[in-house]
Amino acid sequence: YTPLKKRAAAKGIIYGAAIRRGLLEENPKLAASFAQQCGILVPEWELKWNFLRPTPNKFDFTASDWLAKFARTHGMLYRGHTLVWHDALPKWFKEVVNRRNAEKVFVEHITTVAKHYAGQMHSWDVVNEAIETRDKRSDGLKNTPWLKFLGPDYIELAFRVAAQADPKALLVYNDTALEYNTPRDEARRNAVLKLLERLKSRGTPIHAFGIQSHLWATEKRFNPKVLRKFLADVASLGLKILVTELDVTDQDLPKDPKIRDRAVAAAYENYLSVVLDEKAVIAVLNWGFSDRDSWIAQYAPRKDNAPVRPLPFDSNLKPKLAWYAIARAF
Ligand code: XIL
Repeated sequence: YTPLKKRAAAKGIIYGAAIRRGLLEENPKLAASFAQQCGILVPEWELKWNFLRPTPNKFDFTASDWLAKFARTHGMLYRGHTLVWHDALPKWFKEVVNRRNAEKVFVEHITTVAKHYAGQMHSWDVVNEAIETRDKRSDGLKNTPWLKFLGPDYIELAFRVAAQADPKALLVYNDTALEYNTPRDEARRNAVLKLLERLKSRGTPIHAFGIQSHLWATEKRFNPKVLRKFLADVASLGLKILVTELDVTDQDLPKDPKIRDRAVAAAYENYLSVVLDEKAVIAVLNWGFSDRDSWIAQYAPRKDNAPVRPLPFDSNLKPKLAWYAIARAF
C-alpha cells in the first residue's frame, strides 16, 4: 500500500509524526515503518528544555542530533518542538531563573538551540501553548514563568531571536484545545487570533500557526463551519497552518477494539476533511506513530485499563482503520 507521506505529497502536504529516539533505536521494524510512512520527524521529547539542559550551563544535543541524523539519512524533514514552553522545564529552572536573569537565559537558550540546527530545520515551534483563557487576563495569555519575568512581549521577543538565529526555518506559534465548538475552545480561538493579529501587526517574524489537534472520539461538538472559519481567519493573516500533534483519544468508548477503531477513524476522517480543505495547510503530523508508545496511555488512560488506540498504527505496526481514514483524506 502507498505510504502516507507519498499520498500526502501528491496533494502538496507533508505527512509525519513525533517520535522518541529510544523507540527508533530499540525497534528496527518501527524505524523502517516510520521512515517509509513519514516525510517529517519531530522529536516528542528531545528538544524540550529538560532534555537539552541537564544543568544551567550545559546544552546536550546528543539525542536530538541522533534524531536529526535519522531524519536526514531517510530523506525526512526535521521539525523542532519547542523553544519556549511553560512545561518540561528542568528542575534547576526554579532555583536559577529570576526576574533579573530571565531575559538572558531566554535569549541564550533560543539562540543556542536554533543556531545549532540553523539551515536544517523545516520549522520550529517557537512558542508553545501561551494561551490560557481561564487565567482571566484581557490578552488571554497564560500565567507562565516567562510572562511573569518578561511580560507579554516575551512571545514577540522569542520569534525575533529565533529568526536571527535561524533565518531559514518556518517559525510557528503552536497551541492546543481549539478544535471544537465549545465555549472554552471558542474563547481560546479568539485569544489565539488576537495574539496572531498582534504579532503580525508588529512585524514579528512569524510564518505559521500550529494547531495541535488532540481530538476525542466521544466529542460530539465538532462543527465544520466553525473550524473552517477559524482556519480561514488564520490564513487571512498570511500564515501557513500545520496540524502538529494529531491523535484521537478513545477514552470512554466501549472496550471492543473494533468499535473504538471505527469511532477513532471517523473522527480522523471528519477532522481532516475539513482541515485539508484550507489551502494554507501545509503539513499533518501525528503525535506518535504506533498505539504502543502513545502519550495518551498516560494523559487519557481508559478506565478499564485496555491499551489505548489513538494512532494510525497498532502495537504491532499494523495499519488500523485510522490509517485508512488518513490515507483517504489526502
Ligand atoms: C507530551 C509528551 O508526549 C509526553 O510524553 C510528555 O510526558 C509530556 O509532553 N502538547 C505538546 C507536547 O505540545 O509537547 C506534549 O507532549 C503533548 C501535548
